[in-house]
Amino acid sequence: MYILAFETSCDETSAAVLKDDNVLSNIILSQYFHSEYGGVVPEVASREHLRSISEITEKALSEAGIRIKDIDMIASTSEPGLIGALLIGLNFAKSLAVSLKIPFVPINHIQAHIYSSFIQKEKFDFPFISLIVSGGHTLLIYVEDYFKHKLLGTTVDDAAGEAFDKAAKMLGLGYPGGPIIDEFAKRGNPEFHKFPLANIKRSKFDFSFSGIKTSVLYFLKEIGYKKTKSDKLTYDICASFQKAMIDSLFNKTKKAAEEYRTKNISISGGVSANTGLKEKFEQLRNKGYNIYIPETNYSTDNAGMVGITAYYKYINSGNKEFFKDASFKTMAMPRFDFNSI
Ligand code: KG4
Ligand code: ZN
Repeated sequence: MYILAFETSCDETSAAVLKDDNVLSNIILSQYFHSEYGGVVPEVASREHLRSISEITEKALSEAGIRIKDIDMIASTSEPGLIGALLIGLNFAKSLAVSLKIPFVPINHIQAHIYSSFIQKEKFDFPFISLIVSGGHTLLIYVEDYFKHKLLGTTVDDAAGEAFDKAAKMLGLGYPGGPIIDEFAKRGNPEFHKFPLANIKRSKFDFSFSGIKTSVLYFLKEIGYKKTKSDKLTYDICASFQKAMIDSLFNKTKKAAEEYRTKNISISGGVSANTGLKEKFEQLRNKGYNIYIPETNYSTDNAGMVGITAYYKYINSGNKEFFKDASFKTMAMPRFDFNSI
């Protein structure tokens, strides 16, 4: 089965072609110009998706060596995300599906991040604990089987990626801040300063990052920090901040794995590209854990993860009936509910 998939929920325009669960092409156009504004401007993002989506689709098809008439199923992110941005990919995908008389499958972006860990992987086991860390979301989920998800915890304030972006902004490092902090942290001392980990009362698996963010702000004020792009002090602050973020994410995820008696852990979403975070989780392999982390081009937003999620939905739901169902769903935009992911 050939699948054409789209992702336009935020600031990446992406199209991918898959043969079953095998990604043949995954074209991503990142809208870096938002850095000028210090964050994503929704209206500008939508217009850019509109401008580039046809070209990105053509590239995905030609790189995969597949003609549009060979496609059997179309999928697109339908929720959650910036509504104007979502609508571009969603309606482009739906229109193509209708004109080609093939099924359309709407895909939840969070589910797509969960299954992104299994792209181009030989095998994986259920159940597993899934940590999803991106610019908009921080979620800890127990995945019992395909699409059997139990939400264990979320952030009570900022998302992990958002905390990286805000800390980078305070340091004058630009947007998105995660990759810059990651690079600078490699040159700094993580023990330079101890930024406090939050203690959340709501649930033992919830996260909070606004405290770390505020403590960075106070610390910078206290030392009279002057924004510079690169010096030892900046590297040390980045390394210390990143350590606090990693410890918080790692400790809760490991605790969840212990409580749910599984040695399978997946981390995905933009922040899973973080070198320090990956290293920390990779160390668990020595203790018998299976660690699933997507390659970098599948950790930030991409259409490959949307395609593989559509494929897993298809193989897990009685083929012909699924197609019938999928076509009907083209009419509706489901309401997003974290408990239904
Ligand atoms: O998954 P994603 O592309 O988009 C959302 O769905 O939000 O994640 C983007 C986020 C940004 O906050 C960015 O700073 C962060 O992922 N990020 C990183 C790294 N690469 C991207 N954070 C830490 N270290 C990285 N290497
Ligand atoms: Zn995302």
